[in-house]
Amino acid sequence: MSPDESAAESAPATVDGLTLEEKASLTSGAGTWRTTAVRDVVPAVRLGDGPHGIRRQTKGSGDALGLDDSVPATCFPPAVALGSSWDPGLARRVGAAIAREASALGVDVVLGPGINIKRSPLCGRNFEYFSEDPHLTGVMGAAVVTGIQSLGIGACVKHFAVNNQETDRMRVSADVDERTLREIYLAAFEHIVREAGPYAVMSSYNKINGVYASENHWLLTEVLRGEWGFDGLVVSDWGAVNDRVGALAAGLELEMPPTRTDQEIVDAVRAGRLDESTVTRAAGRLHTLTRRVAAAERFDDWDVGVHHELAREAARGSAVLLKNERAVLPLDPAAQRIAVVGESARSPRYQGHGSSQIVPTRLDSPWDALSAAGIATFAAGYRLDGAPDEPLKRQAAEAAAACDVAVVFLGLPDEAESEGFDRTSIDLPGVQVEVLRAVARACPRVVVVLSNGGVVSVADWEADADAILEAWLPGQAGGSAIADLLLGVCSPSGRLTETIPNRLADVPSHLHFPGADGHVVYGEGRYVGYRYHDTLGTDVAYPFGHGLTYTRFEYSDLAVRETGTNEWAVECAVANAGERAAAEVVQLYVAFDEEPPSRPRHELRGFAKVELEPGAATRVAFAVSARDIAWWSAARGGWRIDPGGFAVEVGASSRDIRLRAELTTAGDGHVDVLGRMSTLGEWLDHPVGGRVLRTRLPKLSAVTGMAERSPALFELARSIPLAKFGTFDIGLTPEVVDDLMAAAATGQGS
Ligand code: GLC
Repeated sequence: MSPDESAAESAPATVDGLTLEEKASLTSGAGTWRTTAVRDVVPAVRLGDGPHGIRRQTKGSGDALGLDDSVPATCFPPAVALGSSWDPGLARRVGAAIAREASALGVDVVLGPGINIKRSPLCGRNFEYFSEDPHLTGVMGAAVVTGIQSLGIGACVKHFAVNNQETDRMRVSADVDERTLREIYLAAFEHIVREAGPYAVMSSYNKINGVYASENHWLLTEVLRGEWGFDGLVVSDWGAVNDRVGALAAGLELEMPPTRTDQEIVDAVRAGRLDESTVTRAAGRLHTLTRRVAAAERFDDWDVGVHHELAREAARGSAVLLKNERAVLPLDPAAQRIAVVGESARSPRYQGHGSSQIVPTRLDSPWDALSAAGIATFAAGYRLDGAPDEPLKRQAAEAAAACDVAVVFLGLPDEAESEGFDRTSIDLPGVQVEVLRAVARACPRVVVVLSNGGVVSVADWEADADAILEAWLPGQAGGSAIADLLLGVCSPSGRLTETIPNRLADVPSHLHFPGADGHVVYGEGRYVGYRYHDTLGTDVAYPFGHGLTYTRFEYSDLAVRETGTNEWAVECAVANAGERAAAEVVQLYVAFDEEPPSRPRHELRGFAKVELEPGAATRVAFAVSARDIAWWSAARGGWRIDPGGFAVEVGASSRDIRLRAELTTAGDGHVDVLGRMSTLGEWLDHPVGGRVLRTRLPKLSAVTGMAERSPALFELARSIPLAKFGTFDIGLTPEVVDDLMAAAATGQGS
């Protein structure tokens, strides 16, 4: 049993016996990665990056940006890849494996998963995040949290909240309307807090509507704890606290790393600016965290080979086959002369830069794996430093000319994307595209394999490729996984979790990213990714949810039945109608076809990944809840369902809907409270207000009579708030309005 664990086991159940100074010391770290210990009451715990593997630094207190070396650990596929698997079971297993390694390396809380929404493809950290969609992000993030915590190791979901860019991330204010916040940028955090109970949440660097996340009482206390019931610990991002006392009062319990300002807490309590109960509560939450992780299973090591194979399985399940014309894939080395082109095949990029960077236990390269399968021709084609090299390009074209198929590995270089800065383009390096073109001129069949953390534009070059496999940053076993997919050892099963636009200018946030002058305005609102493209019908290169495989699936027999108020059970059959075993990701959307739209045309509300042998079929079931069809009303301060029609759609992508059923809802039954600024129309349509008006306002007929004579004038009258009728001669004096409100409030109207 570790010293920390034994201390926690025997520690008193509360922190009440601690001095104010001791309690204050708990709310700040003891170093870059450890919390503060206090006597035998609260032991220290160690926090460590994730999110896709353990970065345990080797010497001293280390530093927060991974400049020091770290102990080898399994580099699993980053979230951009793992998310593309659409496989929560796989994500849970990866989470559990990460926890195993955390335990062996003495890490009690893993700083991950990162779940920020991919608002723009330019965000430098998109490789660490799951999707443009909050439902997919929430389900996959919850799976990772559940996996990590299945061993008692803590997960710390991050970065809470609205941290969707790297530009000016420590100062910028993300200015977002509340409906967009609730429906898009907070929704995944809410799902994970409610469904997976993370031990910790990390507050982000940025401001939200002018208030730093780390000092945002509305965010950290009213919403996170008051509404969602979070019972864990809020830890700052590293260096994100600007005001110790303000952060503690807002609901942030742990500042990392320490700024040696505990005395500010003590002084504030002594001066009456901070209630000691706030400090006690924070210390108690540290204490709770230490007791939770003290119960973790402890391991001294892990099976490096087993975890490597899991990383390979995860990478295999994450790659997305965007295109496969003339069935050029899978390859057959026994029957085809195949050239492998691209330095990225020999020197793979498998993870991103910054605090998530891991020293892998092993590293597979695609070229090693493909050459082991008997493929003998390799040409570097280009240099990783992006410098033009005509001889390399010429050698690649010559090698390809002698082959039946050329597999060209392209991707973003290390310096193109990272924590700390954003991209300014979504293009591949021009040098690489030139090599592809030269190879395409020389070889009859061309396969492109992409390796990138943020999506890249394919518009300029995809005509030169018969097939495109998007492998993302696939982790340490990505090379073997890519070979498995290219050779047909298994069928590709990844699906896009982010739209690939034709052009950067088509991205809905493009005019509002990354902001300026300390502010980034989320002017596109809820219309992120497919929510924008599918509502306006804009053309995209490849849509959200898209992914091909080596067979085809047929959907049939959609059945929908109401199971409660605003609750439905949805089922359909899916069959593998092809010749090869493969997995399908069946996607469920709720759709609202309004014109003009008041909400995105459809939104993902469920998905299921099913593996099927050729000829096999299965049924897939979903539940649609009231929340799935609700929208956030800032006026009401809550979720709202309006009566009317909608549809459930089941399909293979957001643009490949196979089945659809029309449904109706009676709404949420909410009756708005009428006020003097409620319009005449709202009063007339109101179950009580209408009666009150008709019985208490004799001259009302002068207005309602317009409905026949002049519908336009009647519509105009309906749009006027009651309080504004004072100047019209229908008897709606301020006194009468007060009388009507009193009558409506008491339900009178008969
Ligand atoms: C960073 C990152 C965060 C990471 C932390 C510790 O700045 O934003 O994701 O967990 O520091 O390395």
